Amino acid sequence: MEMYAIVRGKKGPVFQDIKPRVAEPDVGVIISYAALDGSPEGVAKEAEKYLSSENLHFYGWVEDGRVVGICGFEVHSDKVEIHLISVAGDRQKQGVGGAMVTALQKMYSLPLEAETVEEAVGFYRKRGFITTAFQHPEWGVKYTCVLEPMAGFTAEELKEAHRSLLSTLKKCEKVLESDKLPQPQRTLTERRVAALRIALALIEREQGCDAHCRQDNE
Ligand SMILES: CC(C)(COP(=O)(O)OP(=O)(O)OC[C@H]1O[C@@H](n2cnc3c(N)ncnc32)[C@H](O)[C@@H]1OP(=O)(O)O)[C@@H](O)C(=O)NCCC(=O)NCCS
Repeated sequence: MEMYAIVRGKKGPVFQDIKPRVAEPDVGVIISYAALDGSPEGVAKEAEKYLSSENLHFYGWVEDGRVVGICGFEVHSDKVEIHLISVAGDRQKQGVGGAMVTALQKMYSLPLEAETVEEAVGFYRKRGFITTAFQHPEWGVKYTCVLEPMAGFTAEELKEAHRSLLSTLKKCEKVLESDKLPQPQRTLTERRVAALRIALALIEREQGCDAHCRQDNE
């Protein structure tokens, strides 16, 4: 998977791979807020877990070189599993955690999944995650939190996107009706039509559409 950074302006914050900085003391402090064992030994063990695994990513929200948020995650074929998310004490409740979730959504277009405790479940709920409580044998009540890729879009946004894609599909289908279309252009348009049908079907599935859905959206 490609390394990805979201850059806002020249000096804006960047969400980037910071694995080489995982053992820095400031980063350790941020890890300690979210690690099961927040002691220096627990934090060192957590850092080592990321350093020793190629599958575990360790990203940071970096402002002017300062790491103010961290996110440890693993990318599976069907989901992105958030193992660790934490924000510097003086930057909490200012949108950093939410910005990291949004960045992951943009990077992977996959469901995001996390496990959390009572103290932090409100954050996931605010971000649109569906949360389910379960009894952990060691840690008591915990929550599984799942955010589907399209959960951030409102019903009206989905309807508008559907309308726009459907209109483009119809135009492409019209183009294909011509028997004078050169072969390369025909192939390209056929591919576009196939992609548009997939996009429409995904939106319709999200809308829980029945057979009348297309007319309703028009
Ligand atoms: C939980 C945490 C990662 C959230 O990051 P953040 O940058 O503080 O959160 P944001 O500012 O993006 O908050 C987004 C929304 O969630 C709410 N929120 C944030 N943390 C919350 C919490 N612990 N409980 C309830 N709601 C919370 C915010 O108030 C905000 O709501 P709003 O949109 O109505 O203003 C951060 O507070 C943190 O590091 N906490 C300590 C470590 C931790 O608990 N990590 C999670 C372990 S799984």
